[in-house]
Amino acid sequence: MKWITRRAVFRMGGAGALGSGLLAYGWGPGRSLVVERVDCPLRSGHGHLDGLRIVVLSDFHHDDYGSAALIEEAIVASNAFDPHLVLMLGDYVSEDPGVMDLLVPLFRPLRAKLGVFGILGNHDHTYGPDEIVDRLQKGGIEIFRNRARQFTYGGGSFSVAGMESHWTGRPNWPGLQQALPEDQPVILCWHEPDTFVRTQKEPRLALQLSGHTHGGQICAPWGPLRLPRYGKRYVRGLFEESGTGLYVSRGLGVLDIPIRLFSPPEVTCITLKAGPAVAA
Ligand SMILES: [Fe+2]
Repeated sequence: MKWITRRAVFRMGGAGALGSGLLAYGWGPGRSLVVERVDCPLRSGHGHLDGLRIVVLSDFHHDDYGSAALIEEAIVASNAFDPHLVLMLGDYVSEDPGVMDLLVPLFRPLRAKLGVFGILGNHDHTYGPDEIVDRLQKGGIEIFRNRARQFTYGGGSFSVAGMESHWTGRPNWPGLQQALPEDQPVILCWHEPDTFVRTQKEPRLALQLSGHTHGGQICAPWGPLRLPRYGKRYVRGLFEESGTGLYVSRGLGVLDIPIRLFSPPEVTCITLKAGPAVAA
């Protein structure tokens, strides 16, 4: 028979205290909103978009411990940026579209010069996409499903496009590429960031915006403990490849457990900047 030594008891006690400390942190301060400001360089030829401000909101999962206070705080921060566009990147729900009754009214104070638009995420497509789109559109938020809309800005035009979820929707990237105007930059919203492997080859792409990963949600000092399908390559933040950019939002909500560790929720304002072209 092996006796537990006094040192082992101290070690277990220490590990337990560390674990409960991390849980308490992840439940409380780890879920405090961070306001992010990001400058994204533009390709040559897209310079007329210089100064365009886009606020990104993503991954609400409002039926999974959603916080109205957190969303209200994010909306106050968004309005303070006086953005041209607010773009929502999907996963409004985890499973229950009924929670849109609570979520959509929270979006009412959102302001943007060119409008508030969105796409669906993999959870939305699985648990009632039509109902979720209907609620959002009745709340004044236009949802793009494999389609785009044109805007004028800075003496030129550009498109905002949105794809259905790569995982659970029916995305049609080649069809959308064909439908896009020949000579205009496009800002593309696609929930799953790993799609950037494909989309970065499109020369009209000015910027892709994605969510989905929650930045890992539960992260150790060396990185995320678990990442979802199609969210393993580009986990969070700004990436520049093939002369264009991808921004991956950590989102606002949580999935399954009400804890975030070293991956706080974010509201982000991206400002497009003309200047030296992004290196290919
Ligand atoms: Fe997702």
